[in-house]
Amino acid sequence: MTERDFRFISSDRFFEEYWGKKALYLPNAFPGFSSPISAEELAGLACEDSVESRIVLEKGTPAWQVKHGSFSEKIFSQLPESHWSLMVQAVNLWHPEVNELLEHFNFLPRHYLDDIMVSYAAIQGSVGPHFDYYDVFILQGSGSRLWQLGEFCTKDSPLLEDADMAILKQFKRREEYRLYPGDMLYIPMQQSHWCTAIEAGLSYSIGYRAPSLNEFINRWIEHCSQVLDESIRLPMDDLKNASPTYVPESFIDQLQRRLKKLAENRSLIASAFAEMTSEKKYPDEESTEGVCYSVKELKSLLAHSTCLRQREEARFVWYCIHNKVTAYCNGQQFDFDQGYERLVSLVFDHRRIDKRELIAHSDDPVALDFLTKLVNCGALYFE
Ligand SMILES: [Fe+2]
Repeated sequence: MTERDFRFISSDRFFEEYWGKKALYLPNAFPGFSSPISAEELAGLACEDSVESRIVLEKGTPAWQVKHGSFSEKIFSQLPESHWSLMVQAVNLWHPEVNELLEHFNFLPRHYLDDIMVSYAAIQGSVGPHFDYYDVFILQGSGSRLWQLGEFCTKDSPLLEDADMAILKQFKRREEYRLYPGDMLYIPMQQSHWCTAIEAGLSYSIGYRAPSLNEFINRWIEHCSQVLDESIRLPMDDLKNASPTYVPESFIDQLQRRLKKLAENRSLIASAFAEMTSEKKYPDEESTEGVCYSVKELKSLLAHSTCLRQREEARFVWYCIHNKVTAYCNGQQFDFDQGYERLVSLVFDHRRIDKRELIAHSDDPVALDFLTKLVNCGALYFE
């Protein structure tokens, strides 16, 4: 087992046997687990305008009803005893202790993390049989839930017509697990599932999602257009056509060759991917602190503080092509010459960056400038 392995199972075995293929039940994955957030705190978050939340009620017509937040406190006293759930997205961005749970998932690429959704379900609370376009780790925080897993689904799987949300018309149970606090269940993308609360309580959904190819291509085109000026035109050979409205196949071949050449540019592919995956989940949200340190001030702060911490909402991605390091933080690009892999990896890979590790870089103006920019844009802060 290495630092990057998962609890009870090596990351190699996890990726070979389970990731994207089949569910993995890990009873007592977090022994003695105590939910870092309470149901009351979760309800409080659902009352905030900037937080994405919803309440799902299973009753009446349509069979499943969805109410979208933010909510007023009053709604929680009006809910029935049973058959409802509250879901709050991206709780890791608002709650540092929930964010800490991600330390156990360092075996997965962080740029594919969607969020940690926390749900509270009353007895018999359920969101019905459905499937998701992300891989998810379910960690039971309190109470208990019954998870039934079914077939893998596609966009063509029939859905109920009279529901506010995508509920499967048919669900065939293949496996079943009861989760108690500390138990975990991995469910691969597109495997149908149906969860019902046996005892009221909280559950954490740590979701990973790869962007669609469509999303990536759109971003790649933006990056391509930055290197293509107006003087680069489409080919004009083969003009001797029998018909003035005919496009010869040889022209299509030439155009295809041009596009292939563009696709061979690895820097454009890497920059488009890194920019896209390093953007914040909620880009309009202001950073919590606006600071403007000089490099000199930052050096002095480094000397007097214990550590630098990554802000919960900040996202970091880096790559190395032709010995040049390129780093992206919250969609912003930083370029380095060869030899800066260690610094970038140190700052980007650790949510808590030990000052002792940074000391080695404290006389390097490039490193200080990099750290100053990250602190000033709110991605890092001193503890
Ligand atoms: Fe789901």
